[in-house]
Amino acid sequence: MTTTSPAAPDIHRGLTGVVVDTTAISTVIQETNSLTYRGYPVQDLAGRRSFEEVAHLLWYGDLPGPAELSAFQARERALRPLDRTTAEVLARLPRTCHPMDVLRTAVSFFGAEDPAEDDGSPAANRAKSLALLAKLPTVVAADHRRRHGLAPIQPDPSLGYAENFFHMCFGEVPDAEVVRCFEISLVLYAEHSFNASTFTARVVTSTLADLYSAVTAAIGALKGPLHGGANEAVMHMLGEIGAPERVGPWLDEAFAAKRKIMGFGHRVYKHGDSRVPLMQEATDRLVARSTDPATARLAALHTALRDAMATRKGIHPNLDYPAGLAYHLMGFDVPTFTPLFVMSRVTGWTAHITEQLGHNALIRPLAHYDGPGQRPVPAAS
Ligand code: ACO
Repeated sequence: MTTTSPAAPDIHRGLTGVVVDTTAISTVIQETNSLTYRGYPVQDLAGRRSFEEVAHLLWYGDLPGPAELSAFQARERALRPLDRTTAEVLARLPRTCHPMDVLRTAVSFFGAEDPAEDDGSPAANRAKSLALLAKLPTVVAADHRRRHGLAPIQPDPSLGYAENFFHMCFGEVPDAEVVRCFEISLVLYAEHSFNASTFTARVVTSTLADLYSAVTAAIGALKGPLHGGANEAVMHMLGEIGAPERVGPWLDEAFAAKRKIMGFGHRVYKHGDSRVPLMQEATDRLVARSTDPATARLAALHTALRDAMATRKGIHPNLDYPAGLAYHLMGFDVPTFTPLFVMSRVTGWTAHITEQLGHNALIRPLAHYDGPGQRPVPAAS
């Protein structure tokens, strides 16, 4: 949205349409409505390459060969456990606090514990990024269990990233279809150019603050329901609507109140999010294998709302819409949904931190002042 007045320069509220820098990490190709990571279509990566391989691609610029992949996996697996102090600090947080607050605190604490004796080089930052990739699932799983009154389960180095996460949350690894759907979501969520949380990480990095400060700030930006918090808000909204036949009247009220419908719309995609078809297909496979009538009812409601939004507003779902339903079907509780997004997007954030440092300029835009004119300070009474 750009407004112009004779006295004011062009104002790009929300930075809509503003190109602020270059990036070689990912791009949305509008003509084909596709997203590429380092040139590879994400639709071709998801389901065919593991999340670990995609993390390597985002950080190092290319997919790993077999030897590189085993070395990368071995390092990731060794870094998963939390030290005792971190576990104690996290255990002291109120049980009622949102898991995004737990994650934000965890990353901040990792920063406080890091002696910061390195040179801030790309290699040093990649080592920290790998440690975050490895440890964040351990934090999310331990918090998930704590909220349900359960003791944490230690990571299992014999398991891959996705399988280990299920093991730490539930004490078992589900069948391959569920793991595959989860891994697809991780690959699709990993990176999306200058979205709000990534841009936040780049702003913090541009001041030459450390990686932990940038990631802590990015977690804060992702928490909001207009960004990552939408996957959680989708489930609350579906619960509020309740049944497919309620979609019409519910939307009438929501539109009258000018409510934003969670999981719909996107700043970049105006004709549908390129990541949705693959995520929806994977979610549909989970729905199809369920014998629970509640799942069929929820899926019918999900479809009815999607169709009504397309017909009545021409607004399509974003990735958070099918991902929210998928995470529910996988057995995660709703407050865990946005932390799952963090576990994935930390790869994109940290790739951008390295890129920002490679050609850094302090990010400091201007504002058009429209407050009171200069005036004298009245005498104190
Ligand atoms: N529900 C209802 N109306 C919507 C929605 C929505 N979800 N999204 C856009 N619109 C409408 C707006 O009201 C506006 O209508 P108007 O021109 O009559 O005022 C028009 O579409 C354009 O919308 P903008 O707000 O200009 O679009 P913008 O690019 O600023 O917003 C955003 C994008 C914030 C994502 C918005 O679509 C939204 O709030 N969606 C719901 C939250 C959500 O799902 N966020 C997740 C984003 S994707 C991700 O993080 C993975």
